[in-house]
Formats: sequence, structure tokens, C-alpha cells
Amino acid sequence: MSIISNCTEAAIKEAASTLIRGDLVAFPTETVYGLGADATNKDAIARIYKVKGRPEGHPLIVHISSLSNLDKWARDIPEYAVNLARAFWPGPMTLILARKELAKNSITGSQDNVGLRVPSHPIAQALLKEFEYRGGLGVAAPSANRFGAVSPTTARAVEIELADFLSENDQILDGGPCSIGVESTIINCTQNKPTILRPGAVTKEMIEVTLRIFIDIDISSTTSEKVKASGLLESHYSPYAKVFLTGSPTFGDGFIALDSFTTPVGAVRVASPKNNEEYAQVLYEAFRLADIKGLRRVFVIPPTGDGIALAINDRLSKSAFEK
Ligand code: TXA
Ligand code: MG
Repeated sequence: MSIISNCTEAAIKEAASTLIRGDLVAFPTETVYGLGADATNKDAIARIYKVKGRPEGHPLIVHISSLSNLDKWARDIPEYAVNLARAFWPGPMTLILARKELAKNSITGSQDNVGLRVPSHPIAQALLKEFEYRGGLGVAAPSANRFGAVSPTTARAVEIELADFLSENDQILDGGPCSIGVESTIINCTQNKPTILRPGAVTKEMIEVTLRIFIDIDISSTTSEKVKASGLLESHYSPYAKVFLTGSPTFGDGFIALDSFTTPVGAVRVASPKNNEEYAQVLYEAFRLADIKGLRRVFVIPPTGDGIALAINDRLSKSAFEK
């Protein structure tokens, strides 16, 4: 496995041919790093599951360079989905749509729908464009972490997570820290009205303003039988340290809160974001830092409000679930 820290045009070409060959490329997106494979290559997809240690049957998001490639993968696309795509792509949003033939069971978890995303990160965009130029149709990419662990927001975090499982010909593209820091908003577009399955940086308010309708957030695992999303499992996004959303840290415990909160005596501060956007950006690295420091417990003061705070609180409540 090689780590490419200078993503020149030549490096992007090399990465695209790595994907075409059926090997894996971890790459940055504006949300988190993804572990990419040719979405039409069954063997490459099988390797993603192996490298992540992810149980089979959990669907993968297919990444494409632009909206114009959407109808290769999806059929019966509702008008509201096109409006969302026009408003928020390229960007931190994944649409679940009725699938076409091209989306095989190996990426859809044998469901009749497929998740699609157009990321905006310049390296992701360049890679997807080059891959498509060479005849590729889409790159399947889950977050580049071991199953159940925290998503990586730096190339170093990808390396720590996956180096032991990647092969010689696989690559990690280093694009620096991700600007958003939490995974994309997932929107179910298979019904007559959209619902949010996983909150993210494209917020409920933004969607409502765009579509001029009220929409629901449906993140409960029991009501989402039709649409299986592993990020919806209750225990997910967990560091080794046990995460507490209530109570106070004692000596040697980790502490995460907005900058305006002072660190309790004896606690080890692992993040002090200035606002909720920065909170999202640094949260997963803060969890990793807590693990690197060998902390057993991390106490978190969750952010308040709507917008990106909903996404942060969604991930926090999943990471805090009793293990
Ligand atoms: O920001 C993101 O979305 C990142 C970057 C790399 O794009 N990707 C990501 O992928 O978070 P992953 O696999 O770690 O999480 C995607 C979630 C999973 O919970 C998966 O089950 C769900 O999306 N998902 C994917 N395709 C789906 C489908 N067809 N139906 C329902 N859920 C789906
Ligand atoms: Mg993930």
C-alpha cells in the first residue's frame, strides 16, 4: 500500500488506473475519507468488505462525478430528488434511489435501491472524472475505517485503521483534513416524499427551504426496514474509550466541549471547537486522540441547536451507546 501525499495530475491518473485494475484507493471527500473500489467489479467490492471487516449485506454508496451520470444507476428519479441534486451536488449529500441493473446486489445489500453521491472535494472530483474518462461508471466507497469504528478525517487516520488490511497495490490519497468531518446526509428518495436517514451538513432546514415542504428525520433502526443503513445501527462511530454524554470527568478522563466551556480539574482536553461547524470537523480526530492517549473514558458536552448540531448529536449518541 502506498500513501500519495502530493496528488498531482499524474498521481490522480495512477490512482484512477489502480481503480480500473480492481485495486482499492482511499481518497478524501469533504465529509470523511472513503475506501474506493470500481462499483461494477464484484471482486473489488468483496475486498472492501474484507478490508473493513464489514458484514456482507450492508449497502455501499456509489460516487459519481456529476448529476449527469445519475441515470446510469437510478431509475424513476422523483423530481424532488433532481431538485436536491441540483441544489446540493457536488456536496455532502447521498440520495437513495430505485436502482438500475448496473447496481448489483453486492453494492445494494440486495435491495432494490442504490445510494449515490457526488462529492465536491477537488481530489475526489479529479479522481472520479479520470476514472470515468477511462470507462469507469462509479466508485463504491464506504468510510475508510474498520467496521463500527470512527470514520477517518485524515489520511493518517486511514493508515492507522487500514494499513494492516490493504495490499501492496492499493493506495491512500492524502488531501489533508476533511473540511466537514461528519458523513454525508442520507436522504431516502424512494417514496413520494423524502426522509432523512442520516443527518449531515446538508441540514433538514436547507432541504426544507429548497423543496418548500416539511420533511421528517427517520434515524430509528426499527422503522427503516426497507432501507438498510449500517450507520443506522445503534452502536457505531465508537472509539475504544467509553463515551459519556452526561456526568463529569474525574482525573485522567478525556473532555470534549465547545471552547466556551472550561476544562474540569484533572480532565484531559482533547478538543475545544469554537462553533458547531468546527465541532463536526474535529470530533472524530478528538476520539482518535483520546485513544492514542490511552484514555478509558471521554466526557462530552454535546452541541445544542439545529443544523449540523443534529448530525453531531446523532453520531455522539451512537458512539455513547453501551458496548
Ligand atoms: O460522507 C459519506 O457518506 C462517506 C463518504 C466516503 O462518501 N461515506 C460513508 O459511507 O459514510 P458508509 O458506508 O460508511 O456509510 C454509508 C451509509 C451506510 O450506513 C450504508 O448502510 C448506507 O449509507 N447506505 C448505502 N447505500 C444504501 C442504500 N442503497 N440504502 C440504504 N442505505 C444505504
Ligand atoms: Mg461508515
